Amino acid sequence: MKIVLFGGTFDPVHSEHVKLARGALKELSPDKLIVLPSYIPPHKAAAAAPPEHRKKMCETAFSFDDRIEVSDYEIARGGNSYSYLTVAHFCELYPEAEIVFLIGGDSFFAFDTWLHPEIIAEKARIVVVSRGEFTEKLAKRNTAFEKKYGYKAKILSFRGDEITSTYIRYSLMLGVKAEGLPEGVGEYIEKNGLYRGDGKFEYVRRNLKERRLKHTAGVIEYALKLNGALGLDRDKVVLACVLHDVAKYMRAEDFPAFEVPVDMPDSVVHAFLGEYVAKNVLGVTDEEVLTAIRYHTTGRPAMGTLEKLVYVADLLERNRDYSGVNKLRKAVEENFESGFRECMRQGYKHLKQMLMDGGIYHLTADAYDYYEKN
Ligand SMILES: [Fe+2]
Ligand SMILES: [Fe+2]
Repeated sequence: MKIVLFGGTFDPVHSEHVKLARGALKELSPDKLIVLPSYIPPHKAAAAAPPEHRKKMCETAFSFDDRIEVSDYEIARGGNSYSYLTVAHFCELYPEAEIVFLIGGDSFFAFDTWLHPEIIAEKARIVVVSRGEFTEKLAKRNTAFEKKYGYKAKILSFRGDEITSTYIRYSLMLGVKAEGLPEGVGEYIEKNGLYRGDGKFEYVRRNLKERRLKHTAGVIEYALKLNGALGLDRDKVVLACVLHDVAKYMRAEDFPAFEVPVDMPDSVVHAFLGEYVAKNVLGVTDEEVLTAIRYHTTGRPAMGTLEKLVYVADLLERNRDYSGVNKLRKAVEENFESGFRECMRQGYKHLKQMLMDGGIYHLTADAYDYYEKN
């Protein structure tokens, strides 16, 4: 008997998860594939759907094959969903079975830092599912894996779309129809009122057009991804990102108390007005958040980390599609600080070309000079 374990937060489950399960069924021919939604600790659960709903959504998405079973083992256990405990549990439950443990490409690189990787690698066969990216790096990693654990992991690659639960979640919270939900899951979410944003999300939804809402969801997603290495407060990151373009379609004259600074180009006004609205209409008091909204377009000398993060995510989120964008993404993902500087440099060069004879707004020019010198 062969059993494949497939864990994740599934918040919500999406079509890539389904594709991955289909691939695993086809290539590994198991007798059973067990889907394991993990427990999410309360402090990380701000935008999460309750566990029973995540489980139900999985049952809906994976109902296409009798060999798939959704287990609430990790949810019921609570606490950190340590994989070695899960693997040990299923080994005990099915002592005769060959257990396969599926992990994503990213997890494969981080595997040695998990708790008791040796137990997982010994009790189960590791199978890596990658999006067909970094093949060379994977092969190298696999050699190191073999040295440590005595066998090479099987690598299944599939060409997937870049769908993430994070993007889907924030799209839904902003009222944008999310692509990538398996059949029945969108209806389930709707029926149960999952992933509803709070009043600020609602305000943003009412004030932006669909394209700008998608951009906003993309900015939140990318900022959270980069924040994995930065460790800023998650709620702050989300708040600054969701509000950064809130004033994109507002008119300064509708806010008599807001004074447009002299010589400010139209393209910059929405950032300053956005800060004003965040503070005076929505009651945001966090100075770091307000500053990040204010300078997201121009930058400024000596920016804080949250400011840089919003600035960079605004330029590089998934819906941005200009020549050089992938190179910049790679740069910030490898090294945030130098990637940020590269974004600023490229942005400045681009403006310079567009505006021909200078005319660059002083804040942008000051920021550029500052980061070239410091
Ligand atoms: Fe903006
Ligand atoms: Fe933006």
